Amino acid sequence: MDAIEITGGKPLHGEVKVSGSKNATLPQIAAALLSPGASIFRGVPDLADIRALGRLLSHMGARVDREGGLLRVDASAVANPEATYELVKTMRASVLVLGPLVTRFGRARVSLPGGCAIGARPIDQHLKGLEALGARIELSHGYVEAKADRLRGAKVLFDLPTVTGTENLMMAAALAEGQTVLENCAREPEVIALAEALNGMGGRISGAGSSVITIDGVSALRPMDIEVIPDRIEAGTLLMAAMITGGDVLVRGAKADHLDAALAKMREAGAKISEESHGLRIVAPQKPHAVDFITAPFPGFPTDLQAQLMACLSIAKGASRVVETVFENRFMHVQELSRMGADIAIDGHTAVVRGVANGRPARRGHDRGAARLPP
Ligand code: UD1
Repeated sequence: MDAIEITGGKPLHGEVKVSGSKNATLPQIAAALLSPGASIFRGVPDLADIRALGRLLSHMGARVDREGGLLRVDASAVANPEATYELVKTMRASVLVLGPLVTRFGRARVSLPGGCAIGARPIDQHLKGLEALGARIELSHGYVEAKADRLRGAKVLFDLPTVTGTENLMMAAALAEGQTVLENCAREPEVIALAEALNGMGGRISGAGSSVITIDGVSALRPMDIEVIPDRIEAGTLLMAAMITGGDVLVRGAKADHLDAALAKMREAGAKISEESHGLRIVAPQKPHAVDFITAPFPGFPTDLQAQLMACLSIAKGASRVVETVFENRFMHVQELSRMGADIAIDGHTAVVRGVANGRPARRGHDRGAARLPP
């Protein structure tokens, strides 16, 4: 889709079902590399990042088939544990193949992800962790080359909670010899979903969802057959779409315990949100109140919902203060909101959003030639 045209001014009403989580599916597909045989994934969203990871695994020799929401990945014939720059540059999460490859095949060559629109996003914590497990890591010509006979369990203390870093290390440690203890881990629901998938493959992982995860390595894993968890970012986005239009929407599949921080802020802004048997229902206020919020690793307010809540606040009553602490360059949407009439001032990691009466329509892309919609 090259362009999306929105005719605004109508409150959203009705029901909508949330898709499977992209950020939960990506590490689980990477985990299929840990075992020969066919892993099955159900409820997989049809997104560019999922297709990119599928291409990456096919390039290594895996068989990847898709039929609707069902994805089948057979990693029996993987012969080429390499992820080239051409494949990695389209999606940073490709780095998730590093841990599984080095622990199962004893070697991996994975391109560094390179620059990223929302900041430098280094992978030093992934590499430090793999080295602690005994991998020999070399960086050459933009590639990470990792080698190991068999990884050995160790204690790893992350400098900061990293989601894909925690996931990479969990996967590597699953086939390592002995016990690994990961400290200062990311606590996101996607980390828990990966631990459950690995345990379903015969792994021995405990503590996911807390900051300390213990992994007792096993000598082999079997393929998995799993249902993908609902996408909490999509769910939050849909709730905020209802909020910004003053609507009344039931988001089927939305889980309150995945969205506590976002729901608290939406309630503070005046929304009524109730848990129903199949999801979350939001009844939006006529106009939201201003609220201050700060992004943080889970269970804090997710950086991936910062732009959406800021859009709501740009038409709220009063001034809100938004602080972004997870990524250093994640206010790219501000310029676009300003073009639609928002009043937002940025100072470093802080944005002050003064609510305006109503946004005005704006175009992005057409009037700027090659400009693209944000990811
Ligand atoms: C994941 C999510 C992404 C979300 C982000 C933060 C996936 C596929 N993507 O990204 O949607 O925005 O979590 O919730 O799950 N960092 C380091 N060194 C490292 C790793 C990370 O300094 O080795 C820093 C990053 O630059 C960033 C912070 O840690 O400032 C958090 O990043 P991280 O949790 O790793 O994000 P991703 O896993 O890439």
